[in-house]
Amino acid sequence: MLPKDVIGQAMEQGIGLTFDDVSLSPGMSEVVPRDINLETKLTRNLSMNLPFISADMDSVTGPKMAEAIARQGGIGFLWKAPIDDQEKWVMNVKYALNALIDQPVTISPDKTKQDYLNILPKYDRRFSTLVVVDDNNKVLGLVKRDKAKYAKLDDLVSNFMIKNPLKLEKDLGVNGTYDFMIKQKESKVVLVKHDNTLKGLYCFNDLQSIVEGDEPFNRDDNGQLRVGANIGVCTKNNREEFDERIYKLLKKNCDILLVGTAHGHSRNVIDTIKYLNGLKKDFEFDVVAGNVATYDGTLALIEAGADAVKVGLGPGSICTTRIITGAGVSQMTAIYDSVLASRKYAKEHNKLSIPIIADGGIRYSGDVTKALGAGAHSVMIGSLFAAAEESPGEVFIFKGQRYKSYRGMGSEGALRLFGGERYQNQDREKSVPEGIEGRVSVKGNVEYILKHLKGGLKSGMGYVGAANIEELHNKAKFIRPTLASVQEAHPHDVEMTQEAPNYSPHKDDSFE
Ligand code: XMP
Repeated sequence: MLPKDVIGQAMEQGIGLTFDDVSLSPGMSEVVPRDINLETKLTRNLSMNLPFISADMDSVTGPKMAEAIARQGGIGFLWKAPIDDQEKWVMNVKYALNALIDQPVTISPDKTKQDYLNILPKYDRRFSTLVVVDDNNKVLGLVKRDKAKYAKLDDLVSNFMIKNPLKLEKDLGVNGTYDFMIKQKESKVVLVKHDNTLKGLYCFNDLQSIVEGDEPFNRDDNGQLRVGANIGVCTKNNREEFDERIYKLLKKNCDILLVGTAHGHSRNVIDTIKYLNGLKKDFEFDVVAGNVATYDGTLALIEAGADAVKVGLGPGSICTTRIITGAGVSQMTAIYDSVLASRKYAKEHNKLSIPIIADGGIRYSGDVTKALGAGAHSVMIGSLFAAAEESPGEVFIFKGQRYKSYRGMGSEGALRLFGGERYQNQDREKSVPEGIEGRVSVKGNVEYILKHLKGGLKSGMGYVGAANIEELHNKAKFIRPTLASVQEAHPHDVEMTQEAPNYSPHKDDSFE
C-alpha cells in the first residue's frame, strides 16, 4: 500500500518514529516550487487551497485567526468556548465575506438611530447596512451608516432609511447580480419573495471579490469563508447543552463540526459521530473526529461515518500526555498507520479514502512535508499559529522580545477554566493536567507565517518531484537518519548571529 517505507518496517518491530526519525529521499524532479499546487482534501466532501488548519485551542483559534487562515486558503477550528461566544465567532467568520447573505441583520422602522448604533458592535462593526422590515418581515428599506450620520440619536429609523432600495425577486446568482448592480450603479440589492418578504441581501464588494478576485480564499458555495468548531462529545449528561450548541452553530452555517477529544477511539465519540450524521438531512456540514493514533482507532471513526479523522496522541509542543499517562504514539507512525486504515477501508468499499489531518508536533515546514508525505491530507498546528498576531491574547514583552501565551487545552490553567472535558475519561475533580502553559515569540501575521510554511513545503515537494499533494503521497520515500544525521541536519559548528525567519534552534531558555 505504501511501498516506501521505513516507517512500516519499524512499526512491524513495534518501533514508533517521529519527524526527526525520518527524512524524505530526493527524487527526479521536473517541478519548480512556483508550479506546485497545494490544493488538498479537507474532508470527504470539502477541498481547500492550502493544507493548513489552526488548532481548536483557546490560545490559537478565535474568530480573527479563523478568518485570517481561511483568507489564505486553509481553515481554523474554533475552540470549544461558551456556546454564545462560539456562535458569534462562527457568524463573524461567515459574515466576513459573502455572496448572498441569506440571513441579513434587520431592524424595525420604529427603532431609533441609537438602537441602530447599538446593533453594529454586536457584529464587530463588520458591516453597517441593515434591512428595515415590518413585523411580517416585509422589506421597507435599508439603513446605512452614511445616511444615519445626519440623523439625531432619537430619530426613528423610518425617517432616515433609504425607502426604495434596489430589489430583485429572482436570484440572478453571483455573476448575474454583479452585472445587474454594475448596470444599476447600486452597492446593495435586496432579494425578496413575491410578497416582498425578505429573502437575502447582496453587497457589491463581496461579489466583486468573487468575480474578479484571484484570492485563494477557502469559501463555501455561498461565497462565505469556511470555518470549523470543536463541539466536544455528546454524553448522557450533556445532551441538552450539546444540542443547543450544535443547532446554534449549524443555523449559522458552520461548515465543520469537530468531535474533538484527547482519546477519540471511544464509544462516546463513535456514538456522537453517528448522531451528527443523522442531522445531515436537515443541515449541510461535515464531521471531523479525533484524536486517534492507530489503525484501529482510525477505522472505528471512519466506520462510524467521520468525514475526516484527526490524528495525534501526545506529539504537541505543549503536550505532556505521553509523559503523564505513559500512552501515545510517535507522530509519523501514527499518521502512517491511520493512512493505511483509511486507504484500506476505501479500497475494500470502493470509495475515496477519508482524509487524515495530522495534528500536533509541527515545528518546521519540513515536518509538514513529512506528515503529508506519509499520506496525511493536511496538518493542524498550534504553537506556530499561537505566535501569530491574529491568535487570541495580548502580546507581552519578556527580555526585550515580543511573546504571546500558548497553553495546552489539558494544562492546569485551561482545566481550571473549562474542566476536563477534552480528557473525558477523567471527571473534573480527578483530572490531572496533560499539558503545560508557556509562551511563544511573536513571529508576524498569519500570512507571513504561512508564507514560510508554504515555501518550505513547496521546496520539499520540489526535492521529491511532486507537483501536488497526491503526487507527494505517491512519490514520498523515507530514509531513517541516525542521531548523528539529525545533528548534521541542524546548523552546527557555527554560532548563529542572525535569527532566521523560519528556523530557531529551540534552545530552552524558559527557566533562565
Ligand atoms: P502543536 O505542536 O502544534 O500541537 O503546538 C497542537 C496540538 O496539541 C494538542 N493539544 C494537547 N495535547 N495536552 C496534550 O497532550 C494538552 O493540553 C493539549 N492541548 C492541545 C492538540 O491536538 C493540538 O491541536
